[in-house]
Amino acid sequence: MKRIGVLTSGGDAPGMNACVRAVVRTGAALGMEVFGIEHGFDGLIRGDIARLGPRDVSDTIQRGGTILKTARSKEFRTPEGFQRAVSMAHNFKLEALVVIGGNGSLQGALELQAAGVPVMGLPGTIDNDLAFTDFTIGFDTAVNTALSAISNVRDTSNSHERTTIIDVMGRECGDIAIYAGITGGAELILVPEVPVDLDDICRQLIESRRRGKSSSIIIRAEGVDISSQELDSEIARRTGLEVKTVVLGYVQRGGSPTAADRLLASRVGNHAVALLAADITGKAIGVQGGQVVAHDLAAALQMPHKPMDELVALAQTLSM
Ligand code: F6P
Repeated sequence: MKRIGVLTSGGDAPGMNACVRAVVRTGAALGMEVFGIEHGFDGLIRGDIARLGPRDVSDTIQRGGTILKTARSKEFRTPEGFQRAVSMAHNFKLEALVVIGGNGSLQGALELQAAGVPVMGLPGTIDNDLAFTDFTIGFDTAVNTALSAISNVRDTSNSHERTTIIDVMGRECGDIAIYAGITGGAELILVPEVPVDLDDICRQLIESRRRGKSSSIIIRAEGVDISSQELDSEIARRTGLEVKTVVLGYVQRGGSPTAADRLLASRVGNHAVALLAADITGKAIGVQGGQVVAHDLAAALQMPHKPMDELVALAQTLSM
């Protein structure tokens, strides 16, 4: 294989640039021509495609966001848009596409593969909701951003003896919440994987005050079925405690990627292109148990989510 494309798609994630860089430079090392496709699948449809050489990705490894831009393409979801994307890949004589993105983007990649455009899927999302890899690109940075916010909030929460709810992203996955919550010493961590019981939350908050805690941090993951506003008002109403809410939002999606994210991104980007050079396609590349792995993309997207019971139990024990 001599001519490949690379794109980033869906929500951006810190480390996407490190991954694009690894794809471009590994391609160059293996004598390939690598083309950057801008704006995700939208750019593929429109032909926003240009050759990328090793110098084009200089000074990008430390940058958050994605130099290729990204989109959640509605047009790609239409039969006409999808067909245009397939035709454009053929017009540019791209023998394979490296797609860096989350669940929806990799599902799109799988559809392209079925339509005759070979692909490689790389896990680019802060959510850590892809089961074929222990960690996704961007997750570690997002957790550290959330952790830094928790530490700041903890100071003021302690001074004012308040209860503070910190709302974090993650879509249907509670990983950002549980990792940032445990490492930030949160009193309560609410994740979509565990049903939320308001009575129990209020009971635990009152008990922790009785045990001598004068403030509490509650981390709420995005996918939890009770909103942070409702939590805030219900806890205040039922316990009489003063409650404040901080929604971290897009702050978690930006920032310079951590070493862990840069390394993960570099390893999976490199491996994807090495496999393409050997004419192997249709894989999802991740890292499991410290090793780079390549799973069949279709099977990878069907894998059940990793269990979080151990971390949930750990959080409960340490929050006493
Ligand atoms: O998938 C990453 C993510 O940040 C999720 O945590 C969140 O649900 C979603 O993207 C927000 O997406 P958008 O950028 O389209 O608002």
